[in-house]
Amino acid sequence: MTGPSSALDAVAAASSGDAVIGPALEADLDAIVALESDGFDDGRWSRASWADALASGRVRVLVARAGDEVVGVAGLSHVAGVADLDRVVVRSDHRRRGLGRRLVLAGLDWADGVGAGRVLLEVDATNAPAVGLYERLGFVPVGRRPGYYGPGRDALVMELNRAGGGQT
Ligand SMILES: CC(C)(COP(=O)(O)OP(=O)(O)OC[C@H]1O[C@@H](n2cnc3c(N)ncnc32)[C@H](O)[C@@H]1OP(=O)(O)O)[C@@H](O)C(=O)NCCC(=O)NCCS
Repeated sequence: MTGPSSALDAVAAASSGDAVIGPALEADLDAIVALESDGFDDGRWSRASWADALASGRVRVLVARAGDEVVGVAGLSHVAGVADLDRVVVRSDHRRRGLGRRLVLAGLDWADGVGAGRVLLEVDATNAPAVGLYERLGFVPVGRRPGYYGPGRDALVMELNRAGGGQT
C-alpha cells in the first residue's frame, strides 16, 4: 500500500495543518466521547464502548492531535486476517483537510502489520462524506443490508482487498 511518505499523503498532511496521527491513550477518552457527539446524531458509541476499545489489545484506536486537542479518531479491529474499520470521526471544524484520509491510512498500516489483507466496513449508504472517503481510498461496495440503521437507512458493506490490488 502507499505509505505515509507518498506525495499524496504529504499534500494531505500539509493541508491538515500540524495534526499528528498516533495511538490513542486512555486519557483521550473524554475527547473521543466528545467527537462522537460532534460526529453523530444517533447510533453513537457509548463511553463504555470506547473505554473497552481503548483497553482492548484487539482494537486499534488512533487519534489525530492538533496541539493538545484530539480532533479525530479511528477504530479498527481484526480477526483471522480480516480487519474491520469500525469508526472514523473528524471534528466538524477540521473536516475536508485530509485528516479522515490520514486516520484511515494509518489504520490500514496497522492492518498490514497484523497481517490483515482484507479490510471491511459498514457505512450508512446516505452518509456521502464517509462513502466518498472510503471510495477515494479504494474501498468498493460488496453488499447492502436493508434497514440496518433504521427504516429506509441501508448499510453499505465495503471492502478493500489489498492483496487484490486495492488502491490507497
Ligand atoms: C467522514 C469523515 C470522517 C471525513 O473526514 P474528513 O477529514 O473531512 O475527510 P478528508 O478531508 O480526509 O476527505 C478525504 C476524501 O473523502 C471524501 N469526502 C470527505 N468529505 C466529503 C463530503 N462532505 N462530501 C463528499 N466527499 C467527501 C472526498 O473524496 C475527500 O477527498 P477531497 O477532499 O480531496 O475531495 C467526516 O466527515 C466525519 O467525521 N463525519 C462524521 C462521522 C462519520 O460519519 N464517520 C463515518 C462513519 S463511522
